[in-house]
Amino acid sequence: MPKNLFDYTNELLQEIENFTTDNKEALEQFRIKHLGSKGTLKQLMKNIKDIPNEQKRAFGQLANKVKQTTEQKFSELKESLETEEEQVSVPDLMRPAELSNIGSRHPISIVKAQMCEIFERIGFVTVDGPEVEDDWHNFTALNTPENHPARDMQDTFYVEKRETLPDMLLRTHTSSAQSRIMKSQTPPIRIIVPGRVYRNETISARAHCQFHQIEGLYIDEGVSFADLKQTLLYFAQEMFGKNTKIRLRPSYFPFTEPSAEMDISCFICNAKGCSVCKHTGWVEILGCGMVDPAVLENCGIDSEKYTGFAFGMGIERSAMLRYKINDIRLMFENDVRFLKQFSATH
Ligand code: DAH
Repeated sequence: MPKNLFDYTNELLQEIENFTTDNKEALEQFRIKHLGSKGTLKQLMKNIKDIPNEQKRAFGQLANKVKQTTEQKFSELKESLETEEEQVSVPDLMRPAELSNIGSRHPISIVKAQMCEIFERIGFVTVDGPEVEDDWHNFTALNTPENHPARDMQDTFYVEKRETLPDMLLRTHTSSAQSRIMKSQTPPIRIIVPGRVYRNETISARAHCQFHQIEGLYIDEGVSFADLKQTLLYFAQEMFGKNTKIRLRPSYFPFTEPSAEMDISCFICNAKGCSVCKHTGWVEILGCGMVDPAVLENCGIDSEKYTGFAFGMGIERSAMLRYKINDIRLMFENDVRFLKQFSATH
């Protein structure tokens, strides 16, 4: 113990105030050194008896301050070391796993898969066609040459013209795949083509500039309108229920002759009349007909030998009917609150 106890104690106080560490071992040494049974604080207290009486009070106060500072320093450092340890600690490996969000299929994709599956069951093969198409496959080959008034039926997005390329566009219907398949395959041909199509339409609850269709084409010797009707009846009853009735109304499409539009009996009200079928008991779902012989010839198929039927329908329309969706825009907004509702469906 140095001669001047006051100086020594003040130095000790200084040392303790300045002490810091991020190491548990060093903190324990600090505790033993100062607060232990043989520590500096104990020594300090022993020295009180050697202090002249008139200084005892002042020394006592100083010694107390050293004690408090030491205890406070120790507990502060201990706490900060413990929180640091908590932060780097390994998570509880035995904790049960959080359920992961597995998502769900989009209603368009569900309905598309069902439609394809129904046709595949009766021998149709699902194929693909390009969304960026040339004018010939989308229109001309399908009996809709330039300046044909039927081109107005489908407002088209054209791709900027390039000298080296034919006129390109975003396909307005999946019928464009018909001409590609007919050109590249020989009958019998029995295909369906699901895919996205584009039209320059004002977006509203009922119409969108992009939507999906499924095209069907069957070409062989002796294919008749009766085959078309039976195929579509089979489809309608598989898709919308065994009691579904169909109705074919005469219509016009440039690539089929004769042409028809098909209605199904309204499965929402059982054909009694509701807002969906506009109180007629019927809802239109597709266009169809016998492939026009001129289309067969355009695509290199002998129209004397072969006949065929074709049909095309919108996927959104069936999905909206099936799930009672009243706004087509919901299909493309990808709001999870909407999409999540289909998670139990498939
Ligand atoms: N492509 C027609 C449309 O988008 C639908 C259609 C009608 C397709 C008759 C066909 C058909 O194959 O035979 O409106």
